[in-house]
Amino acid sequence: MPSASILTGFRAYQTIAQLLLDPLSTSRDITNRYGNFTGISLSALKQRPPTFHVVGSIYAEAVLKNYDTFRNGGIIVKGYRNSTHNHLRQGYFSANGAEYEHYIKLFGPLFRKKLVEEVYPVIAEIVTDQMDRWPTGEVINIIPRVNTLMKHLASQGMFKDPDIIRGIRAADMVEQHGRLSGASIAGLIAAKYGRPPFSRLHRQAKATYDAIIEWGKTRDGLEPRSDVLSTIANATDEFGRPASADRIAGYGWTMLGASYDTSTSILTWLLVFISTHPEVARKLHEEVRDYQRISPSDISAIMNLPYLDGVIKEALRLVPPAPIQRRKTHADAELVGRPIPVGSQILISAWMTNRDPDLYPDPDRFIPERWGSISRSPYQWLTFSAGPRRCLGIWFALAFLKTIIASVMARWRPEIPDGSKVSMKVAVTVRPGREVPIILNKPDGNYRASRLTGNVHRYLRISELYRS
Ligand code: HEM
Repeated sequence: MPSASILTGFRAYQTIAQLLLDPLSTSRDITNRYGNFTGISLSALKQRPPTFHVVGSIYAEAVLKNYDTFRNGGIIVKGYRNSTHNHLRQGYFSANGAEYEHYIKLFGPLFRKKLVEEVYPVIAEIVTDQMDRWPTGEVINIIPRVNTLMKHLASQGMFKDPDIIRGIRAADMVEQHGRLSGASIAGLIAAKYGRPPFSRLHRQAKATYDAIIEWGKTRDGLEPRSDVLSTIANATDEFGRPASADRIAGYGWTMLGASYDTSTSILTWLLVFISTHPEVARKLHEEVRDYQRISPSDISAIMNLPYLDGVIKEALRLVPPAPIQRRKTHADAELVGRPIPVGSQILISAWMTNRDPDLYPDPDRFIPERWGSISRSPYQWLTFSAGPRRCLGIWFALAFLKTIIASVMARWRPEIPDGSKVSMKVAVTVRPGREVPIILNKPDGNYRASRLTGNVHRYLRISELYRS
């Protein structure tokens, strides 16, 4: 059995505080110092079940396959009792038992690969239309551009919004609420003692709730199974009752948050990797050069391009937008031979599992070519999680990401101006700071590594090309 460490006393408090402040570096430190299974016990003050930080496919499989014992919880910190913010936490992510079994039957069929393929014409049209508006040769902040593009894709491609205005407003609100809801020490203390109702978080929660309800009303009277939003708004709940406003708001939040935030985040990181790895940019351009204005039939071909596939998988390996996946034990349990008391939290580190040197030699380096000769199970590449509660939107996500990157690299040579500050932080997902400046140059073949500053170097090994 792999070795285990249990942290107690000051060290335990310090580790939890560090996990909240900087989960990425702390997950690495815990793994390097204590190994793949680390218990953190805060029981000095009162009896409290421990937290376990686990790394590696063996632990991930044992937890994620057993989804009725290791249950999902909310992904954002709690607010004061009965707050609107707490109602928004009660979405599909935190559904368990009968509630989850009811909704998976409704949602599952809507996310099948075949249904995503039916949306290829919409994806092609939106990507081409939006990219026609991106300027060539100027410094632009890429984040709002990617954000708008993703919102249109999700709104029209996934949610089939007839009136995209209310869908995009709901998405904007969820995005702002998500930013304010990320776990932090201040956030946790404030949540425990009740961040006051007039605080920004709670005002934003109210605005978000109302925007999702308004969005849901656009589906009044529609067949529940026709699309994700109609299902949320019009399907009965697990007791056969009409969906309550809280249910619509919570589930609407989950679906919007799950789709925009993760994809916007990884698209930005993909462009950072491409701008700092000239050989990758060159090879990618060679492979995709024919896809400047994408037609619906192009997308099937794009989905099968081997180098593009490697680039996307490698970026998702190094920056999984959901770097730590949390579960809570519903009953006393066992994890790879170790007893786990009821109520324990399990933190599965996708961040470190995806850097397991036995699975990925030279794990911190961005090497898309490695995917030409390996294949890994979802438990070994945890970006979309694994097992029964794996990401429902994976086929949408891959279709969006591949089409967008193929189109960018066919049209341009992206470059981040030297000296630009690029920062990374975790607020629900792994986000960039507010700005990532990019110049979309004509594809002139002058590939070079952009030299970045900022805390991104703490988390990604992207500087060696110009430091050597
Ligand atoms: C690159 C993009 C994406 C990544 C990396 C990603 C990643 C993930 C991960 C890691 C989980 C599991 C979270 C956990 O259990 O703690 C998850 C769940 C989920 N994702 Fe995604 N996701 C992406 C895009 C999408 C899209 C486009 C949708 C579409 C709505 C989506 C819908 C969902 C849903 C509904 C769940 C909950 C599944 C469940 O709890 O059973 N995701 N995603």
